[in-house]
Amino acid sequence: MKSALKKLLPQSALNAVRALRDGRAVKALVPLDFATENLKPANSIEFSSIWADEDIAACWQKDHAAICEIFPEHEKWGGINPGDRRALYHLISALKPQNVLEVGTHIGASSVYIAKAMSHYADHSACLTTVDILDVNDPKTGAWVELGIKRSPRENLEALGCGELCDFVVNSAQGYMADQADNGGRRFDFIFLDGDHTAKGVYHEMALALKILKPGGVILLHDYYPDGRALFRDGNIIYGPFKALESVRGQAPNVTVKPLGALAWPTKQGSSKTSLALVMQSAGEDGE
Ligand SMILES: C[S@@+](CC[C@H](N)C(=O)[O-])C[C@H]1O[C@@H](n2cnc3c(N)ncnc32)[C@H](O)[C@@H]1O
Repeated sequence: MKSALKKLLPQSALNAVRALRDGRAVKALVPLDFATENLKPANSIEFSSIWADEDIAACWQKDHAAICEIFPEHEKWGGINPGDRRALYHLISALKPQNVLEVGTHIGASSVYIAKAMSHYADHSACLTTVDILDVNDPKTGAWVELGIKRSPRENLEALGCGELCDFVVNSAQGYMADQADNGGRRFDFIFLDGDHTAKGVYHEMALALKILKPGGVILLHDYYPDGRALFRDGNIIYGPFKALESVRGQAPNVTVKPLGALAWPTKQGSSKTSLALVMQSAGEDGE
């Protein structure tokens, strides 16, 4: 019913429905504690120099070829688009986080690029923890089976020599992060949020992610549409992450969101724009 409606309604009507839903959700949000002191300062990252880094580019060429060989379907099926995967690989390579948390494993398209980037510098304690509310490796119900992908996400990572580096968790993002925060569990220096995209979901995930962030850490959002405006030709807008971050910033003005903007390579629909955005600490004392 929902997908039939999606096909019938024009994009503008779909956007209006979503804006209304997320607007209502934001009004009902309760104040939370947003502990921002561990966020990396925004002025410490220069995207253009990361995209232009020749060493990272050379590693990406090799790793991308290896990924294409063992996981040829990855360009076709789901997951974040290939240009965003490349940006993710570059960011990980530049920031070199030892402990990465990914929320939203799905077919593992982003996971393979994160893990391959990490494999160049990871020490014995390094780990990519990837969490999904569904059992993404299940041989019957995993999205990879339905999409005709040859190997499960775990098998793809093993085939790429990154099996030891990755920990798959079946749990909700909020359940997992609350557990780590409350029980003195894992701490992360890079958290990628690509699971629940509703305003309410991302708002709650942000509060928890900040609790388990190591000093100097960053949070990366996917599907962040700055100012709630379309980024791509299809006019589609996902309001949740943007609305959630507006609410977070209402309570923690020193939080800033740095959209990655336009990349140095194509992303989707004939564009080089990306919906990836880094959550960081603003440089100035007045919150910007
Ligand atoms: C857009 S897909 C992630 C794509 C993935 N990053 C990739 O590139 O292959 C979103 C995933 O998040 C999962 N998800 C949705 N809500 C979630 C939640 N609250 N907690 C954990 N996972 C969630 C879904 O089951 C789905 O697999």
